[in-house]
Amino acid sequence: MSEQKKETKTVTFKIKRFNSAVDDKPYWSEFDLECNDGTTVLIGIQEIIAKQDGSIAMRYNCRAGVCGSCAIMVNKKYMLACETLVLQLKKKVIKIEPLPFFPVIKDLVVDMTPYYEKLLAIDPYLLRDHSKDPEKEILQSPEDFHIIEEATKCILCGCCHSSCVSVWTDKSYLGPGALLKAFRFANDTRDENKKDRIKRITAEDGVYRCHTAFNCVEACPKELNPTETIQTLKRQSVKQALKFW
Ligand code: SF4
Ligand code: SF4
Ligand code: FES
Repeated sequence: MSEQKKETKTVTFKIKRFNSAVDDKPYWSEFDLECNDGTTVLIGIQEIIAKQDGSIAMRYNCRAGVCGSCAIMVNKKYMLACETLVLQLKKKVIKIEPLPFFPVIKDLVVDMTPYYEKLLAIDPYLLRDHSKDPEKEILQSPEDFHIIEEATKCILCGCCHSSCVSVWTDKSYLGPGALLKAFRFANDTRDENKKDRIKRITAEDGVYRCHTAFNCVEACPKELNPTETIQTLKRQSVKQALKFW
């Protein structure tokens, strides 16, 4: 059987560089790389690091679109480097930058602390009286899981937080990523803290800071919809205020 020939093309990777320990301002480095139709942006950067410039800093882990750590900007769009095929971008030059808004530590590695702090503020784990937990597992029906299913697909990449105009202008705002997570736990039938969670997200730094600009929807590499989720949380907060539950 004859082996199928792979398409190959030379693509220029233009990578934004900045080392916060030594540089005053960012600069660009360019590298030509032979890419085939299986070359992802992550594989490309790894090859450049291995063969052309070992000083480039990049964060990644799973290589499978699961851990969220390889989120970067490619040609001004939010993407996961491990899921983005270079030749499908159909460009001779691809511009690679770190996520905006977050402070750059080195090259493509940013300090995600501003996003993680907001996540921690909404208690991103089940809150319940564990002394009453069943011996094996806490069961949930498929129908109940369906309510939170979309939100459980969030991989914590931080793209939505990085893209949100309200986050940019008001650093106290919880932001779309943390609010999506708040929805996921407030509506999980195994959690016992719904009232307090809804109260928390209606505080001054919560859902009413969202101006429905949809940047977060466009940015999400998992095609989730934090804007719609925030609108649902707003409706739930009104229902709670009117004592629907
Ligand atoms: S829709 Fe709301 S949360 Fe999403 S980017 Fe706009 S202001 Fe931020
Ligand atoms: S909602 Fe989307 S963009 Fe935001 S952290 Fe989760 S996966 Fe990333
Ligand atoms: S390396 Fe984990 S999502 Fe890309």
